[in-house]
This record gives sequence, C-alpha cells and structure tokens, in this order.
Amino acid sequence: MSIARLATFAFSGIETLPVEVQVQISAGLPAFMVVGLPDKAVAESRERVRAALSGLGLSLPPKRVLVNLAPADIQKEGSHFDLPIALAVLAAMEIVPKEELAGFAALGELALDGAIGPVAGILPAALGAASRSLGLICPGAQGAEAAWAGEIEILAAHDLRQIIAHLTGRQLLEQPAAPSLQTGLAEGPCLSEVKGQESAKRALEIAAAGGHNLLLIGPPGSGKSMLAARLPRLLPDLTPREALEVSLVRSVAGLIEQGRISSRPPYRDPHHSASQAALVGGGPRAKPGEISLAHRGVLFLDEWPEFPRPALEALRQPLESGVCTISRAAAHVTYPARVQLVAAMNPCRCGHLGEQPRECGQAPRCGEQYQSRLSGPLLDRMDLTIGMAPIPPGELARAPRGESSSEVARRVQEARHRQQKRSGMVNAEASLEDLTADTAPDALALAERAATQLGLSSRGFTRCFRVARSIADLAGVPRIERPHMAEALAFRHRVPGQALR
Ligand SMILES: Nc1ncnc2c1ncn2[C@@H]1O[C@H](COP(=O)(O)OP(=O)(O)OP(=O)(O)O)[C@@H](O)[C@H]1O
Ligand SMILES: [Mg+2]
Repeated sequence: MSIARLATFAFSGIETLPVEVQVQISAGLPAFMVVGLPDKAVAESRERVRAALSGLGLSLPPKRVLVNLAPADIQKEGSHFDLPIALAVLAAMEIVPKEELAGFAALGELALDGAIGPVAGILPAALGAASRSLGLICPGAQGAEAAWAGEIEILAAHDLRQIIAHLTGRQLLEQPAAPSLQTGLAEGPCLSEVKGQESAKRALEIAAAGGHNLLLIGPPGSGKSMLAARLPRLLPDLTPREALEVSLVRSVAGLIEQGRISSRPPYRDPHHSASQAALVGGGPRAKPGEISLAHRGVLFLDEWPEFPRPALEALRQPLESGVCTISRAAAHVTYPARVQLVAAMNPCRCGHLGEQPRECGQAPRCGEQYQSRLSGPLLDRMDLTIGMAPIPPGELARAPRGESSSEVARRVQEARHRQQKRSGMVNAEASLEDLTADTAPDALALAERAATQLGLSSRGFTRCFRVARSIADLAGVPRIERPHMAEALAFRHRVPGQALR
C-alpha cells in the first residue's frame, strides 16, 4: 500500500513553511478524511476535491482515503491546499504518475467543476519552491507572478484537466513568463499645482529625502491632503530587493494582478474608519494590515485624530521597530512594516483654532481636547510638524506655479544617493552615534541646548539629528552644520500638551 506525496506550503507572515500532503488509500469502509491541524477552509477542501473529481468524471474509490498534512503541529489555513490534496489523491488513484509529482510543490483553490482559482501567496511559494529545487503547480491566472521566482518549472493551469494532461504527457503546458518590472516616475498630481505653502513644501521635500514622518496641521481647505498626495512622485524607485519585499507582502495579501510588480514605493491612504485589524493586520485569518502594505513606502493617515484610538496606538510599535507582530491564538505572525508615516489634521473640531476671527468660542480648549486624541508617544514619532495657514482665495488665483515634482524629485534622489553611499540606509534609520560623528560641534551644542528647552525625549533628540542629516544631504554638505540643526529643530513639534496651531 503506497502513499502519494506532494509538497505545498503554509504561510507565517511572508515566510513559507514547507508542508507535505500525504494520501493513503487503504481497504476499509469508504471515507475521505483530512488530518494534520486543518482549519475550516482546509477541512472544506474535502468537499471541493470530491466535487472537482466528479467534474472530471472520476469518483473517489470506495475505500478509506486518508489525507495527512505534515508536519501536524503547524496550523494549516486557507483554501490553497485544495489543489495539492486533489493532485496527491489523483496520484494515489494512479491517474497521474507519482514520480512526476515529486519535483513539484502545488497550491491553488478548486472550484466544483475542477477550475483552479487564484490564491494568496504565490510569489513566496514560488521562491520557497525554487529554494528547494522544486517546480510549482499554480493557478493559470498566477503563472506570471510565479515566474518572478526565476529559473523554475511552472505549471500554471486553469483547471485540473490541463494538469493531468501535462503530467501524463498528453498535452504540455507552456511555461509562463514574468512581465517586465514597472519602473519610472510615479504617476500622480504635480507639486507645481500647490501655490505658496513654501515651508510645507520644504518639509515635504526633507521628509521625502530621508524617509521621515510628517505631520501637517491646518484649517480646512489649506491644502494638506493636496500636498500629501504629491509625496509619491518625489520618492525614488525601490531597489530590486526592496521591490521584492513589497511584492511578497502584496502577494500574501492577494493583491498582485497578472504578475505585475512595480519598483515604485507603495502609497496607502486608508480611511479614518479603518479598524485596528485593517491598519496593523490580524483578524481570524491573519492578513497584512495597511502599515505592512505600505512597507518601504508611505502610509498617509488623513484626518488623523478621527482614527479609532486603539488602531492609532497599535501603530506605535511597528513605527519604531519596522515590523508588525500580530499575536494569535496559536502563534505570532510577523509582517514587515517599515513605513514613512504622513498624517494630516485640523487643529480642532471646527478647524479654525488660532485663526482670528473664525476661531470658535471654545478656543483654545477645543484644540487641546481634539489634539488629546493623539497620545504623546505617537506625536513623539513625528519628525517634522508643519502648521499650514490657508492661502487667501484672491492670492491663490494670482500666485505663480511652483517647482514641478520632477525638479524636487531630482534633489531627493541625489540626497538619497548620498545616504546610500555613506551608510547604505535611509536617514530615518540612521543611528545617533553615526549621526553625531558627522556633526559640527556648534550644531551639537545647539541640539543639546534645544533638547533641554523643548523637553525633547531621547527619541525626539535622535530624530532631530536624522532630519538635520537629510537637510545637510539636500544641501550636499558632508557634515551636519548649525543651520541644518536649527531648521530640523524648528520642524520639531513643541512641548507635549500644548495645542498645535
Ligand atoms: N496652496 C494651494 N494651491 C492650490 N490650490 C489649493 C491650495 N490650497 C488649497 N487649494 C485648493 O483647495 C482644495 C482643498 O484642499 P485640500 O483638500 O488639500 O485641503 P485640506 O487642508 O486637506 O482640507 P480639510 O482639512 O478639509 O481636509 C484643493 O483641492 C485645491 O483646489
Ligand atoms: Mg484634507
């Protein structure tokens, strides 16, 4: 009595865990069982596999069919086990040759008629297969995504029939090809459309140059959302390694379409009704949250204080560590989450705090109340804070167009280049030791004095150096000088508890 085997994967974050599907058909009362810690979707595989086989005109033998998912101690989640189970059953029934399956891993969801539907995680699975010198059997629509794994054999089939025909040598499937990487300047609105607001644009440029967090505060219609939407075009392309990391997260979230992978940094702007699970990930079946989907890119939170408080507080740990760990009943799941946070808010509920005569009668208490929705530690993570005053409508019409996005992007690119050459990382990740080593003594003295006067935390102190480093990089200066530090400190928000205007 032989056992048919086929490799597949379970996922933990963007990591793959090898799983082997083992099928044994033995004499006994007719039964079809799946064991090995399956969740509900995997347990339901039985019904889909049975239906898909009957769709092919086949029926399970009137024997005891046992499917084991090994190792038994890791939870198997999701519908992608359908295809490997069905193929291993077909091998046990001697409809496809067992030795043909030995060189492959498989994943895919089965429809009742035997069609193979898309599943999440094809890219990490293809890389996992490549690292174990296996080919990959996957849904037809996702062959292009799998092809990014390089020189591996891929069987991308639209239904079970095509795979049987290929494995039995009757009709061979074509090897899919990966589409070309989407590169070049990001699309999106141009910075030149934003009139005036010079210091806000300067803050945006510095934030882009070093990957720093940015907070925009201003009354309604002052151009906060408009400005934030223009950040993506200022950011340089991702390196191939970064693009791969971003794509792995997108793949496990099931967001890659037709294998399209971009070298542009992601930009995510969830609505303020987003829950904690939507922002940081989680839920009954772990999925990456917005902060992970924005990995190596920008997370824009518009109307910041309106987000649910637990969701905002849950951002604190990933903002500091660059990874997001979700605790679940059985295990911890970790997703990468190195983001640049950009937030926009009104200073108070009516939005006109500090603007005479439009300020409401409750000022400044209303501002303090509104802003107290944001905790001190969260505000402490914002590197640059900028108050934006509205431009009078009359001036708006007359004001000339400003610099275009491509001009600013060029300076940002040069500044990033200097960072790469110096430390191999972006300034937002630089250590205080490295930064102070390249700081002029008078700039250091200024930072120390300001830290006491402004009541900066150790984190705030380090972050001022990082911003100053980006300002120096934009200026093309090797050392952080006093004016760079002074500008960085001016962008640091004031004493906690004081309403920002
Ligand atoms: N500096 C500016 N230059 C050109 N247009 C501007 C500027 N500021 C505001 N506008 C115009 O006002 C509109 C509203 O701006 P935006 O939505 O960015 O405001 P906001 O600060 O986000 O306001 P809210 O607090 O209500 O969300 C823009 O679409 C644009 O047409
Ligand atoms: Mg807005």
